[in-house]
Amino acid sequence: MNILVIGGGGREHVLAKKLSKSPLVEQVFAIPGNDAMTHVAEVHSEIAETEHEKIVTFAQEHKIQWTVIGPEQPLTEGLADRLRKAGVKVFGPNKAAAQIEGSKSFAKQLMAKYDIPTAEYQEIDTKTDALRYIEQCELPIVLKKDGLAAGKGVIIAETREAARDAVETLYPDENSKVVFEQFLQGEEFSLMTFVNGDYAVPFDTIAQDHKRAYDHDEGPNTGGMGAYCPVPHIGQDVLDVTNERIAQPIARALQEEGYHFFGLLYIGAILTEEGPKVIEFNARFGDPEAQVLLTRMESDLMAHIIQLEAREPINMSWKEDSVVGVMLASKGYPNAYEKGHVVTGFESDIDHYFVSGLKHDGTSYVNAGGRVILAIGEGDTIADAQREAYRRVEQVKSDALFYRKDIANKAL
Ligand code: AMP
Ligand code: GLY
Repeated sequence: MNILVIGGGGREHVLAKKLSKSPLVEQVFAIPGNDAMTHVAEVHSEIAETEHEKIVTFAQEHKIQWTVIGPEQPLTEGLADRLRKAGVKVFGPNKAAAQIEGSKSFAKQLMAKYDIPTAEYQEIDTKTDALRYIEQCELPIVLKKDGLAAGKGVIIAETREAARDAVETLYPDENSKVVFEQFLQGEEFSLMTFVNGDYAVPFDTIAQDHKRAYDHDEGPNTGGMGAYCPVPHIGQDVLDVTNERIAQPIARALQEEGYHFFGLLYIGAILTEEGPKVIEFNARFGDPEAQVLLTRMESDLMAHIIQLEAREPINMSWKEDSVVGVMLASKGYPNAYEKGHVVTGFESDIDHYFVSGLKHDGTSYVNAGGRVILAIGEGDTIADAQREAYRRVEQVKSDALFYRKDIANKAL
């Protein structure tokens, strides 16, 4: 089979790599891909992920059987719908179902209606009401902009003053859609779930991301600064409850409301004293969770996608090893950062890195995005994997990057 992967980051790098190893797969193509994934895919960066018509034509010309869409943007813009209309199979939800990620308000309403555990919330559509609300709400308060924000649309305000600033930021005008949420305390984890309508099969292992930019979970929220799996201190009992109270009910809820979700549903959960609650849903694999989970997955992802399509049992298997991934990001990220600085040291060991924001300028690789490259370590224990990951971080040479030094510490 020929497979097309849409997207150009580290998640798509691992998707292309994992799919290329499947005995079912002949050739993997990537649009737009990136310059560092040519060892696992034929990269077509002349097409952008926003050019839906060109993607459809490409898929037809290259006899693509399955397209796997990595990022949220093309999903919420309806690329899956467009490809399906042209007869191409797609792993990834249609535009209507992708709202589960694209609209916080949609997701919150659905959870409320179907009694799925999540933070209490209120949606406030005007700045005047928001300013009134924050004068008397409980603190800390969480503000979430409706719509996609690459992990950067969430502000946790600990004081009224910070809440006022947050309102100024999230309401550029009087009218804006913002969800105000109760602050939940606990450890976060990410559970990937295969979903086809009301048939939902969660991965039987979870990952943990590190959302804040700096060590000890300080600094602004990012897309994710590092991840690891498995998470030994969050046990099977938590997975079972998350499946029973969140994964199965949300799949049934979507189906009942007339949405057909086919793809990967990411459950971002937090383990509170009252059990796991939903922080967010995403309509695709997490980045960098995918990089560690799919590195650890032993079974065939392509076979699982086909099993999901047929609603057959999906029996995943995993390496005994633990996997840790540490993100190197451009200094300044998630705010403004400089591009064009040389990054070297990883090329000869590309099997242990996943590239998000690098470009080859003809002579060398230079940073071209906020999150740049994820260094991977594998080992018998989390500690071993962590040591390996940081050894590979040290091999990357650049004066333009930074990273967190405490990825996976919670599991030690
Ligand atoms: P989201 O984009 O909704 O995943 O939010 C980004 C990050 O903000 C999450 O990964 C959490 O670390 C934090 N966060 C979001 N909502 C809450 C909440 N209700 N309580 C505590 N932390 C939250
Ligand atoms: N790493 C979190 C996300 O992909 O949304």
